[in-house]
Amino acid sequence: MTAAARKAAVTGHPVAHSRSPLIHGYWLKKFGINGEYGCLDIEPDDADRFFRTFSESGLTGANVTVPHKEIAAAACDRLDEAAKVMGAANTIWLDDAGRLCGANTDWTGFLGNLDQRAPGWDDDPGTAIVLGAGGAARAIVFALLSRKFKAVHIVNRTPEKAAKIAEEFGSRTFAHSWDNLGTLLEEAGLVVNTTTLGMTGKPPLKVDLSPLPQSALVTDAVYVPLQTDLLKQAEQRGNRTVDGLGMLLHQAVPGFERWFGVRPEVDDDLRALIVRDLGGAK
Ligand code: ATR
Repeated sequence: MTAAARKAAVTGHPVAHSRSPLIHGYWLKKFGINGEYGCLDIEPDDADRFFRTFSESGLTGANVTVPHKEIAAAACDRLDEAAKVMGAANTIWLDDAGRLCGANTDWTGFLGNLDQRAPGWDDDPGTAIVLGAGGAARAIVFALLSRKFKAVHIVNRTPEKAAKIAEEFGSRTFAHSWDNLGTLLEEAGLVVNTTTLGMTGKPPLKVDLSPLPQSALVTDAVYVPLQTDLLKQAEQRGNRTVDGLGMLLHQAVPGFERWFGVRPEVDDDLRALIVRDLGGAK
């Protein structure tokens, strides 16, 4: 008798657009694993109950996406350090005792992407600018502090949200309004966009990068389109750039390993598969 297939899924609302089934499906096939990975749309009103009774779902584990990451974290019996700090879990699983465990791998996704596509990017960690103060910003600030950045400047439309993150993360983080950006750029070694601006269907991100040193790295959490206007502008003036797709691919690695027992790699074929699905963007 063969063992029952392990099942995992991405949970969110809406979730049909998620590329996670493609990513995990690619690895399941690559490793010949008898497993399944699907898509589960959970209405916001049902989310708390769903995560609190996760052991009845028939799933080994799940990814959690917007808007359920905080609800999932609150339902977990155990959280890793990052999920605790962020109050948000994007990867959950049941341990041997049936307890629900949660992790946040968005920050390792960010680091994995830059480590792979811009080796040496943090050799001399100085000053970073994070545009935006939502969940993605929180994960990226956590990541940058873990790599010893000396100062992380959070620039946001709603100043209280940036101030809250700066307060939570301590003395190396600073909150700013967009008016300060020009001056901040002069000293920056890294610029990260975590806002939804520049995403297909959203307003453009209007940033003038001219004060930025040419040695700085520019990256975007937006990956639709793959090459955002911010990255185009940076590339044209000679800055190194990294697109946001790798953050999505790398955040998936720990979940797959946890549920299916093999640590996968983010390889060129996987990236090409998702790029094709995104509509052939380069
Ligand atoms: P996520 O959790 O994926 O990071 P989010 O919490 O919705 O998403 O955060 C979106 C970010 O984009 C926020 O920083 C938001 O700014 P506010 O905190 O002021 O809302 C930013 N953002 C979205 N639309 C914007 C706009 N039109 N102008 C400026 N910032 C915008």
